[in-house]
Amino acid sequence: MATGKEQVSRALQRFDELGGTLPDAELAVDFGSGVGRLSQALGDHFRNVVGIDISPTMLAVAGRLNRHGDRVSYKLNESPRLEIIDSRSATLVFSHITLQHLAPEIAASYLDEFLRVVKPGGAVIFQIPSHFSDRYLPADRDDLAVSSEHRRAAIEIRADPGPLFGGGSAVLQVAVTNASEQTWTQSAVHPLLVGNHWLDGNGIVQWDDGRSRLPGRLAPGETAQIALTVTAPSEPGHYRLQVGVVQEGVSWFDATPRLDGGNRDLPVKSEIPVTVAPSASDHGTVDNSGYFASESGGHFEDLISDEIFSPPQFEMNAIPRSDVEALLAKGRATLLGVDEWVDEWHSFTYYVQAEG
Ligand SMILES: C[S@@+](CC[C@H](N)C(=O)[O-])C[C@H]1O[C@@H](n2cnc3c(N)ncnc32)[C@H](O)[C@@H]1O
Repeated sequence: MATGKEQVSRALQRFDELGGTLPDAELAVDFGSGVGRLSQALGDHFRNVVGIDISPTMLAVAGRLNRHGDRVSYKLNESPRLEIIDSRSATLVFSHITLQHLAPEIAASYLDEFLRVVKPGGAVIFQIPSHFSDRYLPADRDDLAVSSEHRRAAIEIRADPGPLFGGGSAVLQVAVTNASEQTWTQSAVHPLLVGNHWLDGNGIVQWDDGRSRLPGRLAPGETAQIALTVTAPSEPGHYRLQVGVVQEGVSWFDATPRLDGGNRDLPVKSEIPVTVAPSASDHGTVDNSGYFASESGGHFEDLISDEIFSPPQFEMNAIPRSDVEALLAKGRATLLGVDEWVDEWHSFTYYVQAEG
């Protein structure tokens, strides 16, 4: 909550520095409000705040942490549009670390909605990643997909995870060798990752589970050691865990059975058997996540299911800055400025003034 206060104050101050103005202090909309970290802070600046979230549990926790009474309310979003907010009603629409978890076309449609619900002369301040950081992208990359004849990886699963509980997680050490004749480079458009699937005697049980990024560049014959977090199926049984290389938005690579390189004879194991034991909750013994064990968890116990499962990994999505700017240019809005922050991604916060 303290970080939310600081973040909201800084964003409003930045909007002001960029020459932005607000017509009043009536209504702020916080899109993807989570537990209300930013909605509560917005309540210090606006008469009314509506926090919108897709998760009923988040909304329930946010309701309990509300310090502003009726002035701050939370609403469930069940649609790819924001019908729950009237057109031209919000003084400010705010969104942070939310659009990045949505498919880009859905995030783009919400951006259109932000411009619909903001009132004339109001403001829209939102953050969304644009592209990968250079640290993960060699400067001389060509951003093309790896061609099909070079989609050959030799994969060795170096640590057997041993038996896993249903829904439990383990970290595998995976050695990925470029078994093609061409250097693979990370692309801003199509990231290269190592990932896994689960199969049983009848075929695929779960397609797509863990994902970890390969380094920026991997030359022919070069090997990268990657930590891959895998999550077992919930049903106990005997499974095969299959690991592969995938280029996001293009295809999975073929894993080669063996690397043919003179006297090099790399042991290749891209699939291992894994026994999944009945889930920890059936025994009531193992806390396999630590996820619900935090101190604050105690206040929200009644909102949390008894069933223990590992939370799915959030996917990360981006919209290139040029596309966001083109989208804003179509709306009745002026982009006053952008702030950039860089970690694995280049991410931008956009400060937008709606036309009066
Ligand atoms: C990482 S949290 C950020 C919470 C808050 N903005 C903050 O900075 O503290 C992202 C939130 O977005 C919510 N979310 C995801 N998809 C959504 C959607 N389509 N509509 C509304 N909320 C969504 C999630 O449930 C989650 O609470």
